Parts: sequence; structure tokens; C-alpha cells
Amino acid sequence: MLVAMRPVLDFARENGFGVPALNVNNLEQILSIMDAAKHVDSPVIFQMSRGARKYAKDRFLRGLMQSAVEEYPEVPIVMHLDHGNSPVTCESAINAGFTSVMMDGSLLPDGKTPADFHYNIAVTTHVVWMARQKGVSVEGELGCLGHLKKGAGDKEDGHGAEGNLTRSQMLTDPDQAEEFVKSTGVDALAVAIGTSHGAYKFDEPPTEDVLAISRIEEIHRRIPDVHLVMHGASSVPQELRELINQYGGNLKPAWGVPLAEIQRAIKSGVTKINVDTDNRLAMTGAIRQLFATKPELFDPREYLSPAREAMQKVCEDRMTGFGSAGWGSKLAKKLKNS
Ligand code: G3H
Ligand code: 13P
Ligand code: ZN
Repeated sequence: MLVAMRPVLDFARENGFGVPALNVNNLEQILSIMDAAKHVDSPVIFQMSRGARKYAKDRFLRGLMQSAVEEYPEVPIVMHLDHGNSPVTCESAINAGFTSVMMDGSLLPDGKTPADFHYNIAVTTHVVWMARQKGVSVEGELGCLGHLKKGAGDKEDGHGAEGNLTRSQMLTDPDQAEEFVKSTGVDALAVAIGTSHGAYKFDEPPTEDVLAISRIEEIHRRIPDVHLVMHGASSVPQELRELINQYGGNLKPAWGVPLAEIQRAIKSGVTKINVDTDNRLAMTGAIRQLFATKPELFDPREYLSPAREAMQKVCEDRMTGFGSAGWGSKLAKKLKNS
């Protein structure tokens, strides 16, 4: 069933787990996630960036979501817009059938210039007003993603602030979070705590000075009813990086967000955890390995099938690690009866 995000996150909070929000751009990624969800019995949050919508087109994405609903009727599915850059983008997603949208007003519509607090409140309030009329959930963002010591977002970011950022720009302020949520009425709030998108988040295993989980705890104390969202939450498994490099890739050493830190964040109010990079690494590793070891192959199904399996494994690991495994059918039952 295709559902809004709010009831899924409310159920996650009631039962003490987090839901991975997984980026998709094509059929193979959607199938990998659905097979993982079915296998471990997890609800699914699919999210599509503006890049994904341009790559796959709204009509195809909507059709694929509808097909997923029909093929896996027992799995609750959310179709979420990732990093909407303006009310117009969010409106087009709502009209295209998305059941949840993110209005990322932490940046201006160019996706790279940090926006001021009042601009963010104004655009997000407008999107909440539009979304409410269609029963669509809304995620806002306050604070800019970036490395707390380097004072910058990573250039690999699909979305991210350019230029130098101050520490206060990169750490969501609890007072502002309270005012933002009261003014806008968002269902979920993405917070900045030192993570970045992409593979290069940290140069070494992160400690509290670069990954401020305690900031999540402070914010949650102030706005306990709002779902907190962790962006840039890929763990960047070393074995996937090594597999890619073993078969001709060239990825620099990098560290992501350890599972234990995500689990701590879930205990402190995070219910939605965004993961894209880990799945990209998994698919790329499998394809590189196959191309290198079986150069005679040229049927896309022969390399896309192992890529799907590798991504499915990552998704199952995240669903299990964040605790959403085992809850899909219980949530489906609850939603059917409500
Ligand atoms: O927010 C970042 C996600 O990983 C999506 O990235 O804009 O390259 O699709 P993308
Ligand atoms: P990663 O790059 O860490 O997977 O983060 C994805 C994300 O936050 C999408 O919004
Ligand atoms: Zn993000």
C-alpha cells in the first residue's frame, strides 16, 4: 500500500525503531529494496531526488511505485521527494503522486547557497499548507550538512552548501528548531550534526567532535513530537570500497556513520535515516567485479542481477540494523484497520 510518511514514522517511534529512507532512480534499485523489504518484513521509504526525477521521469517513477504496491501488497510504501529545492518542485511532486515531500529550505533554490531562517520558514510553511490538502507529509531541514572541523560540505554532494560554513551553520540550533517546527508545522525535521552526503564524510572513524549525536538528543528534548531525520547516514563499508578498488576503481579512503551511532540517534528521536551512497557502492562493486572476472558477458541482466543482490543485502542490513525489520506486516495491518 502507498501511504504518507507520517503514520510510518509515528509507528516507528511508538515501537522504538528507525526506517531507512532509500534513494532510487531505476527499476533495479526499486526491486532490490522491495525484495529486501519482503525478505525481512520492513516498511519502505523510497526517496527520489530532483536528479532521479529527471533521470527516470515522474510518470515512470509513479508507475513503478504502483507496480511495487501491486506486486508486494503486504509492504507499506512511502514515495518521498528528497531535497525539494522550492515550493514549485514540491508542488509538482505532490501532483505527480508523491505521498511525502521534503522542502529543503536550508539552501536557496540553487541548492548551494545557505538560506536565512526566515526564508526557510516562509517556503516550508507554504509547502506544509499545500501538502495538507492532499494528505501528503512534509520534511523540512534546518542547518547545512558539512564537516564540522573542515567548515565545508563535500564537493561530491548532489545538494550542498558551497564555500565555507561556520560551525553554527552546520549544527542545527535547538531554539531555532523549536521555533521552526512551531511556525511551519512540519512532520519531520532534517538536522545538521556533521554528516555530509556521498562517500567522503570523515577522514577517520568519527568521534563526537565531528559527529554530534548529542545535538540530536538536545533537539529531541525540545521538540519530542517531531520526527528527526539523519541525512548523509551511509556507513561507507570498507569492504565495498575495497571491492571497487580491487576491480579497477579509484576511491579514496573514507569513513561513514557507524551503525552504533545511528542506533544511538534512533534512541534520541531519529526515525528516518537517509541512505543512498552505500547502495551505490554495492551495485558498483558487483558490476565491476563481474566485468573484470567475466569479460565475455554482455547481457545487462547478467551484471544487473548481482548488482541487485548486492544492493538487497545492504538494504536488509540497514532494515535489520535500524530495527524496521519485522514491522512491515504489523504496520500494514494497523493501517488497514485505521
Ligand atoms: O541527497 C543526496 C542523494 O544521495 C541523492 O543524490 O541528487 O545524485 O540523486 P542525487
Ligand atoms: P548518503 O550519501 O550518506 O547515502 O546520504 C543520502 C542522503 O542523505 C539523501 O538525502
Ligand atoms: Zn540528504
